[in-house]
Amino acid sequence: MSRTVIRGGLVITATEEIRADVLVEGEQVAAIAAPEVAEQWVPDADTVLDADGHYVIPGGVDGHTHMQMPFGGTFASDTFETGTRAAAWGGTTTIVDFAIQPVGGSLREGLDAWHAKADGQCAIDYGFHMILSDVGDDALKEMDALVAEGITSFKMFMAYPGVFYSDDGQILRAMQQAADNGALTMMHAENGIAIDVLVQQALAAGRTDPKHHGQVRHPLLEAEATHRAIQLSKVAGAPLYVVHVSAAEAVAELSRARDDGLNVFGETCPQYLFLSFDDLARPEFEGAKYVCSTPLRPVEHQADLWRALRTNDLSVVSTDHCPFCFKDQKELGLGDFSKIPNGIPGVENRVDLLHQAVVDGHISRRRWIELACTTPARMFGLHPRKGTIAPGADADIVIYDPNREQVLSAQTHHMNVDYNAYEGKPVTGAVRTVLSRGRVVVDGGEYLGQAGHGRFQRRDTCQYLI
Ligand code: URP
Ligand code: ZN
Ligand code: ZN
Ligand code: ZN
Repeated sequence: MSRTVIRGGLVITATEEIRADVLVEGEQVAAIAAPEVAEQWVPDADTVLDADGHYVIPGGVDGHTHMQMPFGGTFASDTFETGTRAAAWGGTTTIVDFAIQPVGGSLREGLDAWHAKADGQCAIDYGFHMILSDVGDDALKEMDALVAEGITSFKMFMAYPGVFYSDDGQILRAMQQAADNGALTMMHAENGIAIDVLVQQALAAGRTDPKHHGQVRHPLLEAEATHRAIQLSKVAGAPLYVVHVSAAEAVAELSRARDDGLNVFGETCPQYLFLSFDDLARPEFEGAKYVCSTPLRPVEHQADLWRALRTNDLSVVSTDHCPFCFKDQKELGLGDFSKIPNGIPGVENRVDLLHQAVVDGHISRRRWIELACTTPARMFGLHPRKGTIAPGADADIVIYDPNREQVLSAQTHHMNVDYNAYEGKPVTGAVRTVLSRGRVVVDGGEYLGQAGHGRFQRRDTCQYLI
């Protein structure tokens, strides 16, 4: 069994910041000790990694990615191979991606298809949520079997009628099933029926630019759907996780539910914290790069998102990584914003952007780790294997340089997409070394990982309930 010692760093978890050394044996963390004690590990070590002047943090857990996702007649441009490699470069060592139930098909078909795409391809560990796009008696029964296989969360859409959309009856039934089998219901909360009316009206009036994507997806239609999802989950007695929250009015709904003591949780994404409607309104169709749903909001919404990240009314920051190239893919919507494939790349940038939030004074270092690693691991049943540095945990560890300056750019990123949503943004802090289950996969600008190293993770049920 290989032995690695990480020496001289500041170990940061969601609860502690300690000067300590870490002993990795094989794939797991064996011990954490004060440097004087840890000295005795060095003679027997195969590898000693010097972390002096660096943070030693758990690998990131990105609970929301869409590798190779079919959308709007095309596919997200990162495969499981390229996307998980980019994730590793950015300090993320686990993703939870979304398998999709085909309309008219079974959950099993969807899950098998996603295993076929991902198995043997991933550089880092991965799990799946299941998207329910056709809730009926059979799908409800199948949910129990999937939970037993470690697919313990199910996403439904109140948006995208005719594609992924579930009506309130379907949502309620799936939530009742989840209340029974312990699964977590994840919700894309936007009133898609109302939005589609506004889309048709906008197009008929000749409002076809990317910015109209943001204008028709009104913040109140996110708030309304969030409210409805909360009420339905309360009726069903099931916990609820609302994905990609962007509107201040939706945050208010979550805050109220949480103040009532409900098991209601919210996720936001870096794009809602660092980008805004102004990006969607960029001229010459460049706004298409910023089309995602829920949409980027006017910059005033950001203050409420930051506040909620501090009060825990938002508990997780995931990427919703769903890359489409500007050339040829985003361009499908030239002259009709409703045909622009929805999604923004970001799996490689999340850990750095959240560190920038520490530098900017929005959150503490421990909160950074909690939002990016520990809470997503607990939320999605991966803790304590993932999301922390502790004896017995998987040795998914990042040695992070808090002082290195970098400029985010498509010229230097590793995601398989022809633009970076944060192009030209300077950030302080950068990943130096990444271990995935004890194996060094990135070190000092060199990629040492391998497709197929990443293993499918059977997840427990949510470990974050109140
Ligand atoms: O625009 C987005 N978010 N695309 C990915 C699919 C989804 O709704 O999460
Ligand atoms: Zn969504
Ligand atoms: Zn509150
Ligand atoms: Zn998504």
